This record gives sequence, structure tokens and C-alpha cells, in this order.
Amino acid sequence: MTLLTKKPLSALLADAEATPLRRVLGPVHLTMLGIGAIIGSGIFVLTGVVAAQNAGPALVLSMILAGIACAFAGLCYAEFASMIPVAGSAYTYAYATLGEIFAWIIGWDLILEYSLSASTVAVGWSGLVVSLLHDFGLALPPQLTAATGSTVALADGGTATALLNLPAVFVVVAVTALLVVGIRESAGTNAAIVIVKVLVLLLFIGFGAAYVRPDNWKPFIPENTGTFGEFGWSGILRGAGIIFFAYIGFDAVSTAAQEAKNPQRDLPIGILASLAVCTLLFIATALVLTGIIPYTRLNVAAPVALAVDETGLGWLRPFIKLGAIAGLSSVILVLLMAQPRIFMAMSRDGLLPPLFSRVHARFRTPAITTVLTGAVVAVAAGLVPIDVLSQLVAMGTLLAFAIVCAAILVLRRTSPELHRPFRTPGSPWVPLAGVASCLYLMSGLPLATWERLVIWLAIGLAIYFAYSRARAAKVRLRLGTATSPTA
Ligand code: ALA
Repeated sequence: MTLLTKKPLSALLADAEATPLRRVLGPVHLTMLGIGAIIGSGIFVLTGVVAAQNAGPALVLSMILAGIACAFAGLCYAEFASMIPVAGSAYTYAYATLGEIFAWIIGWDLILEYSLSASTVAVGWSGLVVSLLHDFGLALPPQLTAATGSTVALADGGTATALLNLPAVFVVVAVTALLVVGIRESAGTNAAIVIVKVLVLLLFIGFGAAYVRPDNWKPFIPENTGTFGEFGWSGILRGAGIIFFAYIGFDAVSTAAQEAKNPQRDLPIGILASLAVCTLLFIATALVLTGIIPYTRLNVAAPVALAVDETGLGWLRPFIKLGAIAGLSSVILVLLMAQPRIFMAMSRDGLLPPLFSRVHARFRTPAITTVLTGAVVAVAAGLVPIDVLSQLVAMGTLLAFAIVCAAILVLRRTSPELHRPFRTPGSPWVPLAGVASCLYLMSGLPLATWERLVIWLAIGLAIYFAYSRARAAKVRLRLGTATSPTA
């Protein structure tokens, strides 16, 4: 059964050793990459929607629930990343443990996590830039700020058909150019942005706490409306599935494995430290946000800025928006850094065409696949009304996390002797809890999102059987890395 062919760990580790990429990242840069990918439209935008439509003040419980699932998954990622420090991340872990078809499913799934979410975040970025310019009395033509063909409102009260979302295209093109030039430059820019956005969240929490009115937290769990997902416990659960998007990105640290100076020690640090810092910031932000303003008023595009307006601290407003814009920029940066590195690993294994694994001779980055990824993400962000798909991103990522947690259990059984510089504590319970909590969050998401996931996976499997499977078999023969399904 070639479907379950596994890639031997020796071949994987040889790949990792022979990296053409530049090893320049230490623990601080890796943690910054994680925070860079995490703090973004989830905390700055989705919190408002989840509070207003699903959880009410219990937004913080949704936040904690999603954080717990991520903590389990993060511990499993840390074990794999320390043991198999290669750029393919979860895709590679699945190839080593569960077999080729699972690896393909994860790789295909990660396109949702990295590319599709980069497009949705770029659309959010555009919205925030338009709103900041508006605060300063500047206006872009509305026709240039929405997906092609959508109807936009004009200043004179009329309507028009949008040409494209120009700011969304712009940010993706700018970030792609930076990523082509070098990992060091990209990580440096990311670190600067991370400092700004963390400061902005701390300012919000610090100043906002004084304006919290505990009455706004009552009722803490609004009664369910009779519909699943609208308040009550089901609302908290659905809210957790949606707000899980806010945590996405800590796993992107593992795709920088071949650019890390000491990956076995530093990848677990980067993954777990970034997750811990962001979880604390998120919980505090959720409490302050719903404490300042009644949850019923939070169904807006910039809830954190609205809460600042409520406090009367007008000077803080532009900082919050700038922080959010900066925040979303680095999310796009790290997601667009991660995607080509996954493609690179898949291409080396033959599952994607060879073009995807070329590394630029001077920049030592996967330049061609970075540009290809950037182009597709820019077109999706600029021309297609893609922002409605953030729940699909959350769903796809939860599935990938569940598979990674399951793979830890498999590898502990099949290869107990392997050197694990970081071991997930409490095995098998922590990995099992990881699988269960990810599936539980998935169960709360709407049926339409499940249907989209199934369609996405069906397209992926069609490509696998039509192209990738046979090509991967040829590459294995050429490289002499064929193994039995049970190896
Ligand atoms: N966690 C990232 C965000 O919230 C994807 O924008």
C-alpha cells in the first residue's frame, strides 16, 4: 500500500542537515516569529463578532477553551519540531509517522492555514488602513477597496461596482518582496512589528482596565437564543472554534526549522513561549474589551478601537489602529514565510512539481515559490470576497493539529527509542486531549464550514491520485528512500 508509505527519519534528518537555507535565527527571533503570526485579525477584529454573536462576556471562556486546545497541540508540535527539525513541519511529521496520504492531506490542509488565512488577513488589513485614513480625513476611492464586482457605497450616497481591493494586493506584494530578499531581513522586520503590536495591546489592557464596568459582564453567559451557537454553552463552544483563528500561527515557527541556528533546543522555545505570551494577552484583552463596552455593541470591524472611543482616551485610538495594522502585516509576513517552506518540502518528496523547491542562489530563500504563493494570495485577497472564509481556515488548522497530536502517539509506539530533545509531558494523555479538544472545537463550527472542508479535501485527494502519488513514487525510487508501510 503505497498510500501509507513513510519517509524514513534518517532521510528526513539528512534533508535537514543539507539545508541550502541560511541558519540565522535564535530563540528570540523564533519566539518573535510566533508572536508575529499570532496577534492579528483574530484579536483585533474577530473578538467583537464572537462577543456580539456567540459568547457575550463569556468571550474570555471561548478564548481559554481555544487556548487549551492550542496548548496541547503546541506541546505536540514542540516534540516533533525538536525531533524532526525540517521546514515541512506538520506535513513532514505526518510523512514520518502516518504515511504519505496523511502527509498529503496535512500539506493540502496547511494551504488553508497559511495561504487562505494570509488572504483573509490582507482583506482585514485593507479595512483597517481605509478606516485609519478616514480618521485623518483621507479617503481612497471605494471602488479600489473591495473585492472585484462587489457593491460599494460612495460618499455621495450612491453605489458603484468595485474594481479590486488595492490595499490588500499592495500589502501582499510588499511582504512577498521582503520574503524573497532574505530570512534575516524578514525576521528583523517582524521583530520590530511585534514590539509595536505587543505594546499596543499592553496599552489597551493597562489604560482600559480602569474603565471596566463589571455590570457589562452581566449576564456573563447570556442565555441561549434557541439556536445552536448563539450564546449559552453552545455559543461559547462555537465562539472558541471561531476565535481559535486568533491563535493560529505558533506552529509556523516550526517551518523555520532549517533557518534556526539550534533548532532542537530553540523551536520548542519559540512555539511554546509565543503561545504562552499571546494566550495571556488575549485573555486580558477579552476581559477588558467586554468590560468596557456592552457585548451587544461589539459587532463592528474594529472592536478594540471602539472600546477606546468609549473610554474617551481619544489619543489612544490612532495607536490602536496603527498597532492593529502593524499586527496584521506581520501575520501576513510569517504566514507567507511558512507556506513556501511547506511547498518546498512537498516538492522535494515529489508531491509537487520541482519548481517549488528551487532556492535562490544569492538570497538563499525559496524565491520562486514565494513569488508564486504571493501572487495567488494577492489575487485571492484583491479580487475574491474571501474574508468570509476565516472559519474554514480555523477548521482546516484544527484538523491539522488533531493529526499532529495523533502522530505523537503513533511515533511513541513505533519508534520509542528515538532521541526526543523535547518530550510532550503527560503522554498519552496530553496528545489524546489535544486530539479530543481540536475535534470538540471543530464540532462547534457551522455545517457549511464542514461542507467547505470536505470539498477542499476532495479537490486535494483528486490532485493526489491524478498526479502526486505517482510522481512521489518515482522520486522515492530515484533517491532510494522507499520504505515499507510499516517502517
Ligand atoms: N492568528 C492570526 C490572526 O489572528 C492568523 O490574524
